[in-house]
Amino acid sequence: PLTTVVDMHGRLMIGGCNVATLARQYGTPLYLFDEETIRSACRTWRTALAACYRGETAVHYASKALLNTALTHLIADEGLGLDVVSGGELYVALRAGFPPQRIHMHGNAKTRAELEQALASGIGQIIVDNLDELAMLANLTAYRSPPQPIALRIAPDIVTNTHAHIQTGHATSKFGLPLDALDAAAERLRTAPGLCLIGLHAHLGSQLFDLEPYAAEIDTLLDSASRLRDRHGFIIQQINIGGGAGVPYTADQHPFDVHALAMRLGEALTDECRRRGFPLLHLVIEPGRSIIARAGVALYTIIATKNLPHMRFLHIDGGMGDNIRPALYGARYSAVLAERANAPIEESVAITGRYCESGDVLIHAAPLPRASVGDILAVPVAGAYTLSMASTYNLTPRPAVVMVNGGSVRLIQRRETYEDMIARDVVSSQGQV
Ligand code: LLP
Repeated sequence: PLTTVVDMHGRLMIGGCNVATLARQYGTPLYLFDEETIRSACRTWRTALAACYRGETAVHYASKALLNTALTHLIADEGLGLDVVSGGELYVALRAGFPPQRIHMHGNAKTRAELEQALASGIGQIIVDNLDELAMLANLTAYRSPPQPIALRIAPDIVTNTHAHIQTGHATSKFGLPLDALDAAAERLRTAPGLCLIGLHAHLGSQLFDLEPYAAEIDTLLDSASRLRDRHGFIIQQINIGGGAGVPYTADQHPFDVHALAMRLGEALTDECRRRGFPLLHLVIEPGRSIIARAGVALYTIIATKNLPHMRFLHIDGGMGDNIRPALYGARYSAVLAERANAPIEESVAITGRYCESGDVLIHAAPLPRASVGDILAVPVAGAYTLSMASTYNLTPRPAVVMVNGGSVRLIQRRETYEDMIARDVVSSQGQV
């Protein structure tokens, strides 16, 4: 389904609700999520993988794209697993009651405390990034029974066509074991009775649209699995290919075909398993963006305008504090006026944020009808890597988050308050005024 529709009066609707009405009711900036869009993305991934591969399959939502309690419940309900990358994400997931067995933990610099937290929680799998982590885990689990399941993350040495900041599969990436460190990892594992190696993992990058790098990745992962079997006697049961499926943000970008990726993965893994004498290994995938991006719409109020001879700025009440992607990656978004979504385009404007940075431009040239102060501006496809990367820069509170579903509305995260912003400040009695 589409995230947004426009009614006959030009009013933007999401999940059966009038977007501008919600913006006025809850205040702006406001992030609206459509439950049905999230659920349908979860189902698309699960059914596509299961239909295209005869071995076991699992979809783990990459919670770095966005995580909160309500979303955790939804992901659990849809039968997905969860990929977490920090003690904080693990904490939120566990507090929300997510089954620990369905959680995998990632990270290239997991602290001892985070590893202990993961081990104590009964987590399904720890995905080991490097030899130091492996050594620490081996020590922490020396007397553990039954052993903790782990996977090894490799750097597959595959370059992808995406922004440098979100490439991860190249040989010089900070993530994962270089291929030539696999033997050392296997040696270390030989004397680690508290660990049980069951899988191999790789992640190529994010916002990918080509399928062929994934086929190359499966080839490399299976090469590594063969090496671990032939040289060291380890039996790999599971292949995790990471996330990365691209999402179109603007009308000129093509949609990503989840089914086509599932077909390509199923075909490649079936062939490679057969060729190397493996049974059909379990296939895990970790989509983040493609599950949550389209379900979210950011809403802002136009606070002021600035008019120059050939340029017009619309200053909004949000910006890089709630969405740093344009400033960080040059990411592109589109915008519509929530109450005049069908009105003819009259001008191209810069949508400028409220933060004290010249780089705080959400959209450099947005085609819009003539907009004025007080109008509600909606930015679609805003669900991924926005709130999860939000800051309180300029001590500006982070937005409220609302979930809509077929005409019903619920607040799932309240707006941050000024009180929240001093909640961690410590005033010694000496310093008190
Ligand atoms: N698995 C691993 C190990 C990852 O590192 C990531 C993303 C994913 C899965 C999910 O990838 P996705 O399906 O969402 O592309 N902040 C950047 C994106 C960083 C992605 C980091 N890793 C952005 O806003 O574009």
